[in-house]
Amino acid sequence: MEPRLTKKEEALIRETIRNKYSQVAAASPGSYFRYPTGAEGLRRQRYPLDLMRDFPKSLIESFCGVGNPFSLGPIHPGEAVLDIGCGAGLDTLLAAKMVGPEGRVAGLDATPGMIEKARAHAALLALPNVTFQVGEAESLPFPDNDFDVIISNGVFNLTLDKEKALKESHRVLKPGGRFMLADMVLVAALPPEKAGKIENWYQ
Ligand SMILES: C[S@@+](CC[C@H](N)C(=O)[O-])C[C@H]1O[C@@H](n2cnc3c(N)ncnc32)[C@H](O)[C@@H]1O
Repeated sequence: MEPRLTKKEEALIRETIRNKYSQVAAASPGSYFRYPTGAEGLRRQRYPLDLMRDFPKSLIESFCGVGNPFSLGPIHPGEAVLDIGCGAGLDTLLAAKMVGPEGRVAGLDATPGMIEKARAHAALLALPNVTFQVGEAESLPFPDNDFDVIISNGVFNLTLDKEKALKESHRVLKPGGRFMLADMVLVAALPPEKAGKIENWYQ
């Protein structure tokens, strides 16, 4: 168990994460991550590249997910999907293609710069069934039982209150809804020189 954070530490972590992702939104992820991002990340994670042929270069380059939530199961035409921590919108817009005009997809991200970028990408693709909004996984701005599927890629590791974020996901999913999460987890204790440092949250 991580030691409990003070309110001040929580505020610092939140602000630093938002600053980091504002910078990522203003550039391309490239040098900000230790794992492959952009086209190389999508190829390695075996994304369905055929569905993304008309995706603009900036959208492909902005991908900074850690895995592939779509590998966990199909998304069907007509479904309602929520992408938590949507970043610049790649997974959201891919889901929009999968649900088709009868479905709907919402992208949510805590960083306003990411949402601006995602909206610009959606406008280029002219997909009618997608909305993007600023918000946090711990407090989802949606009614109960609203979505068939939640996707999320590389985001829950950044949430300060994971229990609250999971409860919120459960609340907005319809009964029998699917939660398709890709994320990073610690598989062993951190070395002593790193353990308990708040920098671990955003490095
Ligand atoms: C590693 S990026 C992944 C972005 C996107 N899912 C993708 O695959 O390209 C993590 C994203 O999570 C967002 N984020 C961090 N904490 C969040 C929170 N508590 N609620 C919602 N989004 C959050 C960041 O702003 C950032 O866009």
